[in-house]
Formats: sequence, structure tokens, C-alpha cells
Amino acid sequence: MINDLIVEFDKGLKVLFSKPKASRPRPDIHIKETELTPDEKKRTIELMRVNHTGEVCAQALYSGQLLFNSHGEGAESLKKASKEEIDHLDWCNSRIQELGGKTSLLNPLWYMGSFLIGSFASALGEKYNLGFLAETERQVAQHLTGHLKKISKKDLKTNKILEVMADDEEQHAIKAKELGGAELPRQVKNAMSLISKMMTILSAKI
Ligand SMILES: [Fe+2]
Ligand SMILES: [Fe+2]
Repeated sequence: MINDLIVEFDKGLKVLFSKPKASRPRPDIHIKETELTPDEKKRTIELMRVNHTGEVCAQALYSGQLLFNSHGEGAESLKKASKEEIDHLDWCNSRIQELGGKTSLLNPLWYMGSFLIGSFASALGEKYNLGFLAETERQVAQHLTGHLKKISKKDLKTNKILEVMADDEEQHAIKAKELGGAELPRQVKNAMSLISKMMTILSAKI
């Protein structure tokens, strides 16, 4: 167990402080950059900072979930989804850099919180672990779809990245359900949504 925790600590440091490496090309590589107004650029940076923080949390959640569940039936799916989340992390990070923005300073805090939540969900057993994952992914997909409405239509590159991310998250949610994810109580879903709203407000600015 101590060894696992050391490995997880090292993984966390890599997510937070080293450049992530996507295994798939960024979906917008064939799309030309368009001229954005300073306000449009600022808006995109803020939203992508939030999405980047979401992806940092996704890494922590998946790590926490796999900590107690690394040999479960859903473990392979969790690992595959977690790899796709690294793509998202890299895509968000590089898009923010391109637009001259910075990622959120609060990411270490969110990482730790998400890791604890993921570990807790995992300790409850696979049914709830997968149920929690399905609900998280459903909320993230919904959140990304909302961002697609807020980002300037002129910003074709960011729109393309978000479209692919939203599709991936929907697939992650479906897979977690298919693997037997339990429906969570409404109060838990509401609490999850409240935490994510708080995270959205803070990571857009700090
Ligand atoms: Fe993601
Ligand atoms: Fe996902």
C-alpha cells in the first residue's frame, strides 16, 4: 500500500508540474487560427482554464479509483479512459499556452481533493465506484457542451477540441454505466454539481 501511495504521489507531481503527452493528435491541428478580439481570447482562456482544472481532477479521480480497484472488472476501462483524459489535459494546456494564458494556481488543491474523493468512491466497491465515475463524466460532458455555447463561434480551434472532448466524456459515462455503475442518490449528484460549480468559479480566475 505504501508503495502504491508513493507511485500515486509521483503520478500527481507529473500531472501538476510536467508537460502532459497526448497519445492522439490535437483535434484542431488542421484548422487555421482565426483572429480573436481581446475579449474573445480572454473568454476562451478562462473557460479552458476551467476545463484544464477539470482534467487535472479527472487524473486524480481515476488514480484514486484505481488505487482500490486496480484488478476489478472495470479497471481496464478506467485505465483507457484515464489515458484519454491525459489527451484532454495536454490539449487544454497547449491551447491555453497558445492564447497566452496560464493554468490555475489552485490545481494542486483540486488534485488532492479529487484524489481523496476518488479513493473514497473506490473503497465503497465497484458498483458505486463506476456509478460515481458515470455521474462525473455525465456532468463533465454537460459542462463542455455548455462551454461550446459560450465560446466565440469564430474560435474554430477551441470549438473543435471541446467537441471531441465532450464526445469522449459521453463515451466514458456510457462505458461506466455498461460496466454496472449504480445510480447515485440525488443528494450526492447535487453535492457533486455544487463542488464543480465552486471549482469553475475559482479556477477561472485564480
Ligand atoms: Fe476529460
Ligand atoms: Fe472522461
